[in-house]
Amino acid sequence: MKNFKFILGVGIAMMNMVYGQELKSPNGDFVMDFSLSKDGKPTYQLKYKGKDVVKPSHLGFEFKTKHKEMDFAVQDRVEDEKAKDIANFLSGFTIVDTKTSTVDETWKPVWGEVDKIRNHFNELAVAVSQPNTDRQMVIRFRLFDEGLGFRYEFPEQKNLKYFVIKEEHSQFAMAGDHTAFWIPGDYDTQEYDFTESKLSEISSLFDKAYIGNASQKAFSKTGVQTALMMKATNGLYINLHEAALINYPAMSLNLDEKTLTFESWLTPDALGDKGYLQAPFNTPWRTIIASDDAREVAFKGPQLIYNLNEPSKIKDTSWIKPVKYVGVWWEMITGKSSWAYTDEYPTVQLGVTDYKNAKPNGKHAANNQHVKEYIDFASEHGFDAVLVEGWNEGWEDWFGNHKDYVFDFVTPYPDFDVKALNAYAKSKGVKIMMHHETSGSIRNYERHLDKAYKFMQDNGYNSVKSGYVGDIVPRGDYHYSQNTINHYQYAIEKAADYKIMVNAHEAVRPTGVARTWPNLIGNESARGTEYQAFGGSKPNHVTILPFTRLLGGPMDYTPGIFEMDVKKLNPNNHSHVNSTIANQLALYVTMYSPLQMAADIIEHYKRFSDAFQFIKDVPVDWQDSKYLEAEPGKYLTIARQDKNSNNWFVGNVNGTDARSTKIKLDFLEKGKKYEATIYADAKDAHYKTNPQAYNIETKKVDAKSNLNLTSAPGGGFAISIKEIK
Ligand code: NOJ
Ligand code: CA
Repeated sequence: MKNFKFILGVGIAMMNMVYGQELKSPNGDFVMDFSLSKDGKPTYQLKYKGKDVVKPSHLGFEFKTKHKEMDFAVQDRVEDEKAKDIANFLSGFTIVDTKTSTVDETWKPVWGEVDKIRNHFNELAVAVSQPNTDRQMVIRFRLFDEGLGFRYEFPEQKNLKYFVIKEEHSQFAMAGDHTAFWIPGDYDTQEYDFTESKLSEISSLFDKAYIGNASQKAFSKTGVQTALMMKATNGLYINLHEAALINYPAMSLNLDEKTLTFESWLTPDALGDKGYLQAPFNTPWRTIIASDDAREVAFKGPQLIYNLNEPSKIKDTSWIKPVKYVGVWWEMITGKSSWAYTDEYPTVQLGVTDYKNAKPNGKHAANNQHVKEYIDFASEHGFDAVLVEGWNEGWEDWFGNHKDYVFDFVTPYPDFDVKALNAYAKSKGVKIMMHHETSGSIRNYERHLDKAYKFMQDNGYNSVKSGYVGDIVPRGDYHYSQNTINHYQYAIEKAADYKIMVNAHEAVRPTGVARTWPNLIGNESARGTEYQAFGGSKPNHVTILPFTRLLGGPMDYTPGIFEMDVKKLNPNNHSHVNSTIANQLALYVTMYSPLQMAADIIEHYKRFSDAFQFIKDVPVDWQDSKYLEAEPGKYLTIARQDKNSNNWFVGNVNGTDARSTKIKLDFLEKGKKYEATIYADAKDAHYKTNPQAYNIETKKVDAKSNLNLTSAPGGGFAISIKEIK
C-alpha cells in the first residue's frame, strides 16, 4: 500500500472546493460517490442498481481535547477556540490527493464454507487535510460486487501523534423506514433475541427487547448492534457491520429517528473514552453489504468481511483442524448437574479453600467416570473432542461478585485426574477440549495465560473454549471496549504461539479476524443454544443469525438438542427448546462453523440414534456451498459439499409458519448417482407441541432430481446425499 505524502500548509487553501468522485464495483452494480460538503465534511453515498443504499452521509471524528496523555501542548490551558479546533475532525477538510486501484486475487481459507475466496474490488483512497489544524487522514473505500468497506487511516504526522476519540461519527443514512432485525445496542452482551420491526419502532420496542444478562449496558433506546440486517422499503437487503476490529472499540449504531440515519457509537472504556490511538493507525472497516437477493448477503457477506482482513499471520496452519465435539455441558446448563464440586462453603478462594476434605455435592459432572463415558461415546461415534466444563477449582461462586482471582486454569477438582483422563482420551483417539471460564476477569486470565496454555500443551489439549461471563474486571470496563478487544486478541495470538485453537464465548462478535488468526475457530457472541434452557429463544432465531452474527465468522451455536422438554433433565427447569429435531439437524449445515458440538446428553442420542446418524455423518469443513433459498426471519436452505468427497449435505431451517418447498438437486455432479437420506419434520411436527416428530426416508437421486419437502413451524429438514460408487 502506498503512503500519501502531504505537502503541509502550502497550497492547501487552493484546493478548498466541493469535490466529487465516483467509484464503481467491478460489475458496476454499486456506485459510491465521495464528496466534500461546502463546509468541508467528507460525505459519501451508495447506490445499488440505481437504488439508494446509503443516502449522503458524513464521515469523521470528534476528539477529546483535555487529557493529560494528549500531545497538544499544555492541554488544560488550551484556549476554548483551539480546543474546539482540535476536537473537530469532522469538517473543514480539503482534498489533498485521491488514488484509485483494483485488486483481483483468490485465496484459500484454512477452513470455510468454500475452499477458495475471490477478493475483487475497486478502491478509492481520498487523502484529506484540515488546513487550520494541519492534520491529515485518508479515507479508504473498497467497493466489491457485494458492497462497500471504508476505513479511516491516520498517517504519521506532527500534529496528530497520540489522540483520544470522543466519538466516531460515521453516518449511514437510510433511504426509508426499513424493516430491521435488531438487538439492543449494548457494551457488554449480544445474547439477545432479535426484534423484527420498522426502524421508527426501535425506541418503543427497546425495553421489551432488553432482557436481563449477567453483564449488560445499554446506551440509548435507539441503539442497536451490528451486524444489523435490514429489508429496505425499496426491496433491497442491507447489512451494516464492521471488519478487522483490532485495537479499537466495537461499534454499535445509534439511530436518529427523524432522519433515519444511523451513526457509529463506539464502546467506551471505564473512563468514558472511546479509543486511545497513536498514528500511524488504521481503524476497522465499516461494511455496507447490499443485494436484491437475500442469499447473497448471507453467503457473500462473510467473504467480503474476510477480504477486508489481513491474510493469515500463522505460517504453518497444519495444526488447525475443524472440530466436531460432544461435551459435559448441557447437563450443567439445564441445571441437572453442577460445575461446582461442593456446596459446603459460602464462598471459595483458590489456595485457601480446602477442596480435598470438602464434601462433594454429588452433582459434579466433570468427574473421572462420567468424563470417560463421554470419551468412549465420542470415540465410538467419530467425534474429535470432548469438552469438559467445571473441571477446575473455583466454580462454587464464580460470578456475580466482581471477583478478580477467581480461577487459576490449572488446578483440577479432586475428582478430575487431568493426566489419566488425557491419557485415556489419547488411547481412544479423541482430545479433551479445555475450558477457561474467566468470569470476565481479564486481568486474572492474562496473569495466568502462559501457564494455562503451557499446562494444556503439556497435557495434550489443543483447543480451548474460553468465556467471559459477568462484568469485566478491572471493574468499570466493558466487554467491547478497546482494552477488552485487545485482551481477546492477545489471548488468540498467544494461543497461536502454543498451537492452540480458540473458541471464545461472550467475547466481542467476530469481524473476520479469523482470516488473520485462523486458530480462532469459533465464538459464541450471540444468543446460543444455552438460552433454550434459560427460557427459550424465538423459533425463527436461527433464520436470522446467518444474516447477522455469522457475517463476521463462525458461531459455536451448540446445536443437536433432541429432548426439548428441559424439565425431563431438571424438574425445576421449565424451559422449552423451541425447535424440532429436524431443525436441530439442519443447524449443522445452516450455521456454518468449523467447530460443531453435538450438545445433548448421551442418553438422548441413544434414544434417537437414527436421527443422530446425521450428526455423525455431517462434515465440519466444506469445498463449496450453495445458498438455495433465504429470507431473514422466515427460512434458509443451504447445500454444502464436503471438503474431502463428492457428498453433499442440505439444511433448511424454518420460521414460525409451516412451509413447503421444492429443492432442485442440480448442484450434484451430472452423470453421478447418489443416495439421499432425508430427515424431515413429520406432518404433525411443531416446535412447541410436537418437536420430536420426524421421518427418515432414503432415495436414489441425481442432478436432475427435485425434492418436495415441508417444514413445520420452528422446523426444517436435513439431507445427506452420498455418492454411490
Ligand atoms: C456461558 C457460556 O456460553 C456457556 O457455554 C458456558 O457453559 C458457561 N458460560 C460457563 O462457562
Ligand atoms: Ca454465553
